[in-house]
Parts: sequence; C-alpha cells; structure tokens
Amino acid sequence: MKKTRIAVFVSGGGTNLQALIDAEKRGELPSGEIALVLSNVQSAYALTRAENAGIKGVWVSKKELGSQEAFEEKVVEILTQEKIDLIVLAGFMSILTKSFTDRYADRIINIHPSLIPSFCGKGYWGLHVHEAALEKGVKVTGATVHFVNEIPDGGKIIMQKAVEVEEGDTPEILQKRVMEQAEWIILPKATEKIAREIANK
Ligand code: GAR
Repeated sequence: MKKTRIAVFVSGGGTNLQALIDAEKRGELPSGEIALVLSNVQSAYALTRAENAGIKGVWVSKKELGSQEAFEEKVVEILTQEKIDLIVLAGFMSILTKSFTDRYADRIINIHPSLIPSFCGKGYWGLHVHEAALEKGVKVTGATVHFVNEIPDGGKIIMQKAVEVEEGDTPEILQKRVMEQAEWIILPKATEKIAREIANK
C-alpha cells in the first residue's frame, strides 16, 4: 500500500517532530512517511533534527516573501512538488489563512498543549498555555490533536490525553510533563490514524 506522505511544520525546538521521527523508526507509523520538514523560522532546532534524521528540511521566510499570501503560495508550491498528502503542525507558531486550510481540508492536524476547549485560540501557544492553566488553578490539563480549519484550535478533535497538575508546578515543569505524558504519545498515534485513513481512501 502507498504510504501517506507527511510534511511536518515547525517553528522551534521540534521535540514533537522528534517523537514522530522516533515513532517512524520504531515502526509505529506504518501508514506514513515523514517526507518533509518545513519551518518558518531559520534558526529552528527542528531543522537540525530533520537533517540528523536524513529528512528534507526547508525554511520559508514570510518576511522575505513580503506577505502571508506569498508565504502560503510558496508553501503550496513546495507541498505540491513533494506530493504531500498530510500536514502535521508540530509547534508551528503561525496562523494559516482560510484559503490555505480550505485547500487542505481534513489534511492538516495540529498538536495543542491543553485539553481543548480550555486554554486555546489566539494568544494561547507554547508556555503561555501552561501559564494560563496554572493561573486558573486547574488540577488536570493535557494535550489535544485536532484538525485545522480557519478558527485557531477550532477544528474537530482527533485525540486527547489528560495530565495532572501537581503542587509547586511552574509553567516550565508543567510543559515538560504535558509533553512527556501526552504530546509525544498522542501526536504519533493520531498521525498514524489519519495517515492510515488517507492511505485507505
Ligand atoms: C508544544 O508544546 C506544542 O504543543 C506547542 O508548542 C510546543 C512546541 O514544542 N504548540 C502550540 O502551542 C500551538 N498552539 P516542540 O517544538 O518541542 O515540539
């Protein structure tokens, strides 16, 4: 069976990308292959992780291209060239327009570090999500993998996993626990699930 060709979009450290690379190496992503890593940040360590794994990495600069529209046009050109079937946003800190998300309807998934609909939407990214969770005093948080549409963190939920908040947690400690106990587990699982559905279409 033909494997689903996956592009992982990143902006930073890329620990979720690493979880995907490791899952593929262990044979836990049998329906897909990570064919491309695309970053909107030139210095993203995720690009080094791609290189170390022998995966093609590209940097696309919105600043150099001049607009979001030109950025997305360039991205579409690259995805078409690489015959990408599925896009995984793994710490990609840029909001895609409706024109882009419509073009890849049900073909873009994202990992978000909270139990949606809590602590999500505009402004809730990275450490800010965990700061907000601690400020609110929730006792349980977690991570969500969902489809991406034009509403930030608003698409259909695919998978979730809960993580306990502990006494004395800082945003950094909580972020690490959510990554270890939820994100790095459900992102590869959800990616395989959707890759399998696409491969079977
Ligand atoms: C992860 O916690 C991811 O869930 C979050 O950013 C971090 C990226 O880390 N994404 C968002 O907040 C998206 N709204 P990574 O680069 O090490 O995977």
